[in-house]
Amino acid sequence: MIDLVILEKEILEEVKSVKDQDGLEAIRVGELGKKGRISLLMKDLSLLSPEEKKEKGSTLNKLKNNVSNSISEKKEELENTELNNRLLKEKVDVSLPVQSQSAKTGKIHPVSQVMDEISEIFGSLGYQIAEGPDIETEHYNFNALNIPESHPARQMHDTFYMPDKNDNDESLVLRTHTSPVQVRTMEKGEPPFKFISPGRTYRCDSDQTHTPMFHQIEGLVVDEKTHLGHLKWTLETFFKSFFELDSIEIQLRPSYFPFTEPSLEVDVLCDRSGSVLKVGEGSDWLEVAGAGMIHSEVLKSANIDPTKYQGFAFGLGVDRLAQLKYGIPDLRTFFNGDVRWLNHYGFSFLDIPTLSRGLKK
Ligand code: PHE
Repeated sequence: MIDLVILEKEILEEVKSVKDQDGLEAIRVGELGKKGRISLLMKDLSLLSPEEKKEKGSTLNKLKNNVSNSISEKKEELENTELNNRLLKEKVDVSLPVQSQSAKTGKIHPVSQVMDEISEIFGSLGYQIAEGPDIETEHYNFNALNIPESHPARQMHDTFYMPDKNDNDESLVLRTHTSPVQVRTMEKGEPPFKFISPGRTYRCDSDQTHTPMFHQIEGLVVDEKTHLGHLKWTLETFFKSFFELDSIEIQLRPSYFPFTEPSLEVDVLCDRSGSVLKVGEGSDWLEVAGAGMIHSEVLKSANIDPTKYQGFAFGLGVDRLAQLKYGIPDLRTFFNGDVRWLNHYGFSFLDIPTLSRGLKK
C-alpha cells in the first residue's frame, strides 16, 4: 500500500499551490470524490485484517480530514481573493464628475412646446381642437376655400402635388395650409363653431425663413354675430398671453386671401434695434398671422347659410412664433435633427406648464 504520509504531503502541497476554484474543485473530486484516490483507499480497507484495518483506518481518516480541511480553507481563501479582486475592479470613484444625462433623457422640441402653449391659451378661451389630413384633396385645400383651378393664388402656394389620385379620382396635394380643416370640420357639424386646428403644412420652399414643412394653427369662430372687433380682441388677447406681456399693440393691415373678405395681415409691435428682436416694444412691425372674416363662398362650401351665419378665421405660423418667443434665429435648424440643438433649445418635461403636461405647482 502507498505511503500515506507522502500522499498527504503531496496532496496538501497541491492544494496550497492551486490558483483558482476550478483547480481546487478538480483536486477535491480527484481525492475525495466517489472515485477519488482517498475514497478508493477507504474502500480497500475492507480487504484488510481487523488489526490492520484499525490502524490504517485511523491514519486514513486523519489524512481524509486533513485534506478536506485544507481544501475548505483554501476554498475560503480563494473566494476572498476573488471577491477582493472584483471589488477593486468595480469600485466607484465618487470624486469623478457626474456624467451628464441630458443626451439620454430627451427634450421637448420648441415646436411641440409652442403648439401646446397656443392650444392651452385657446383652450382657456373655449376653443376646441379639430384635425385634418396632411395629404389633402385639391378640393379641400383649394376649391372649397374659393380658390378654383385657374386662380392665381394657387401659384402663391408652391404646392407639392402627389403623383396619384385617390379612389374617388381626386387630385391630392400635401396641404399648403391648415385652412382645409375649416370646411372639413364645418361640414360635419352645425354652427356655432369655435375651434383651432394645429398641424403640419408643406410648401416647396427653402431658405433661412422657409422650410418645405412647417406648422400652422388655424383658428375659426362662426355664429350669428361674430365680427371683426371680436377677431381683433381675440388676437390681441392671444398675443398678450403667448408673449407673456401686460399689453401688446397689434396692427391689422388690409390684405388678400381668397377665403376671407375682408382679409387682414396681423403685425405685432417689435424692436429690431438690438441684436435680439423684442416683441411688444419699439416702433417696428412684424407680421405674425393672416386673418379675416370668412368668405361667404367658404361657408357655402360647408353647407352653411351665409345670410344667417358669419365669423372669422386666422392662421398663425407656429415656427415663426417659436422663433420669436425663444430667440431661435434660423428656421432650418428646427428640422435638421441635431441633438445638440435640441438639448440647447428644447424643453424639459416639467419646465413649463401646458395643457398636455399639466400645470406646474
Ligand atoms: N391659410 C392662410 C395661409 O396659409 C392663412 C389664413 C388663415 C388667412 C385663415 C386667413 C384666414 O397663408
